[in-house]
Amino acid sequence: MKIKNLLYLLLVISFYNCSYVNEDDLTENLSEDLVNYEDNIKTIIDNNCIACHNNPPVNGAPMSLTTYSNVKDAIENRSLINRISSTDLGFSMPFGGPRLPQNLIDLLLLWEAEGLIEN
Ligand code: HEC
Repeated sequence: MKIKNLLYLLLVISFYNCSYVNEDDLTENLSEDLVNYEDNIKTIIDNNCIACHNNPPVNGAPMSLTTYSNVKDAIENRSLINRISSTDLGFSMPFGGPRLPQNLIDLLLLWEAEGLIEN
């Protein structure tokens, strides 16, 4: 019986330790969780856009999207976000559809909102 009580106490203590978060931990986790090009965005572009926006671009695409600065420039100066958000097949990207899954569009929106971090 005593051993059981002791185990219970240890369990409570270890839970308490796990849930204790100080301010430093919070800010550390925050910066690790920011969306960044290398970890989150490059794969989306590679899988959905560079069939045309390659380097050099093909199929009539006007620019490459193979590097961080290409993609950043397309967001800032070529309405990339409007293109992927649009449901107008004559305007939307990927060219000719289908539209990206909403969670990927949301990730690009978040990436822009958080400042287009590279890595
Ligand atoms: C099947 C080929 C193809 C694919 C795949 C494709 N694009 Fe395009 N893209 C084009 C063509 C062709 C144009 C030029 C015609 C136009 O503006 O509609 C273009 C234009 C654009 C423009 C506008 C450029 C400007 O200066 O006006 C953006 C931004 C863009 N694409 C982003 C993307 C993104 C992001 C993806 C992936 C999610 C993507 N495209 C996938 C062919 C493609």
